[in-house]
Amino acid sequence: MLSRLYTATLIGLDCKIVEVEVDYRKGNSYFSIVGLADKSIQEARDRIPSAIRNSGAEFIPMQIVINLAPAELHKSGPSYDLPLAVGYLLASDQIKEVSSKAIFIGELALNGDLRAVNGILPIVDSVSRLGFTEVFLPKDNAEEAANVSKIKIFAASSIKEIIKHLNREEFIDEYKVNPRDFSSQKGENRYDFSSVRGQNFAKRALEVTAAGGHNVLLSGSPGSGKTLLSKCFAGILPEMTIEEKMEVTRIYSVAGLTNKKNPTVETRPFRSPHHTSSQAAMVGGGTFPKPGEISLSHRGVLFLDEFTEFTNMALEALRQPMEDRVVTISRANGSTTFPANFILVAAMNPCKCGYKGDPEKECVCSQIEISKYQKKLSGPILDRIDLMINVLKVKNEELFSNFSAENSLEIKKRVVSARNIQLDRYKGLNIFSNAEMGQSEIGKFVELTESSQKLLRTAVDRLCLSARSYFRVLRVARTIADLGGSEKVEEQHIGEALSYRLSSASDL
Ligand SMILES: Nc1ncnc2c1ncn2[C@@H]1O[C@H](COP(=O)(O)OP(=O)(O)OP(=O)(O)O)[C@@H](O)[C@H]1O
Ligand SMILES: [Mg+2]
Repeated sequence: MLSRLYTATLIGLDCKIVEVEVDYRKGNSYFSIVGLADKSIQEARDRIPSAIRNSGAEFIPMQIVINLAPAELHKSGPSYDLPLAVGYLLASDQIKEVSSKAIFIGELALNGDLRAVNGILPIVDSVSRLGFTEVFLPKDNAEEAANVSKIKIFAASSIKEIIKHLNREEFIDEYKVNPRDFSSQKGENRYDFSSVRGQNFAKRALEVTAAGGHNVLLSGSPGSGKTLLSKCFAGILPEMTIEEKMEVTRIYSVAGLTNKKNPTVETRPFRSPHHTSSQAAMVGGGTFPKPGEISLSHRGVLFLDEFTEFTNMALEALRQPMEDRVVTISRANGSTTFPANFILVAAMNPCKCGYKGDPEKECVCSQIEISKYQKKLSGPILDRIDLMINVLKVKNEELFSNFSAENSLEIKKRVVSARNIQLDRYKGLNIFSNAEMGQSEIGKFVELTESSQKLLRTAVDRLCLSARSYFRVLRVARTIADLGGSEKVEEQHIGEALSYRLSSASDL
């Protein structure tokens, strides 16, 4: 007999429907799986007979040919176990009927138990949009799948439960959770600006960074608090919208970073890959591409500590994604695109020994060493970094005194209102923050007063600002004006924007 049912798989974040055809007929024992199935699917030939026998059904070796279509799609992974097994049972008449609007997905253990698979959220979301009405999947995937409301979810702990359900002997209850109230789930950040002593200049620079969605570079001597400040930064970004949470969860689901306990991503991502990370780890890769750090930071922060220690290859690979806010991974069998819209926070020492510009400790680097070190910084990636600041160590009296500082929540309120101004301004333009302004938008939206023009002209002359720095200053000044609720960019906004340039490498 011939049976037919459906499963689904992911190529990057794209969901593809796969048709499973099973031809079962009398003859010599023969079991073959065709249709560009890789080794992990071929191994199902060993798993399926055991799982079926251990579930009270029969596996009689006859002539079995399973075809996976479309044939040109490379197929991989153990999530095909369940559809293959159900297809066999249907063809051998041990299951009566399967709806053509059903999707089956799940890995089988030898005893017939079902194991969770990666990428469930984007799969269930896509199949429901494509008109499928029910999905059979492992229990441990249910919580994540239940975020999609327009499809019936039948979650089972073993294939035995699915056989009984399909044969109408014992029904599996539809898995339902109360619609997730994303809005009530505030993101938590362990690091709060109220615990950072002093550093008012750096804190303000990070507020501007967050408000305009800019990228920032922090330079300072060891122990000056760069890492601490960066970790606090994620806590002043606006809460993610529901759409953003779903978008980020899809990426984490594909990467296998969601589970029963954490079925969704609620807080803005903060990723801090080590400086030894390879190019593939940064941008993603693999035969069946998985998202890299830049996509795992989507809608959040990519924190590159010890920025100058990253390999040129890894940094170079960030260039195109920072421009396009997506990354395309090309493979022999096609290319995959993942989103990669993140804020870059980079931290570094100002020189090799780390103490250049430190008021207390002397730098022991030679001039050649310093310029060699700073050369590492030059390059196109700097074009995308709008704020570069020196972080000085807090003074001892600030360290030992009683202190109270503004907490992250207060700062976040200002950030959110500045962001709302930008959302209004750029409506319909497909940009959402000041950092995304190109030259034409700068010309249109950065209206300078007479005195601010004058100040800028003087700065260009005296500080020999490059064109690159000039536009950087205008973008940042726009954000500072938004934080102050000012439509025009005033002199003090330009003045403050000019201060967010490295004094040690002032015009990189
Ligand atoms: N302003 C501050 N208020 C409170 N704690 C601070 C402050 N600055 C630094 N610290 C503490 O000092 C320690 C070192 O700070 P941190 O690791 O952020 O420095 P760093 O600039 O990243 O140094 P390195 O260049 O060595 O990476 C941390 O334990 C941090 O909590
Ligand atoms: Mg550090």
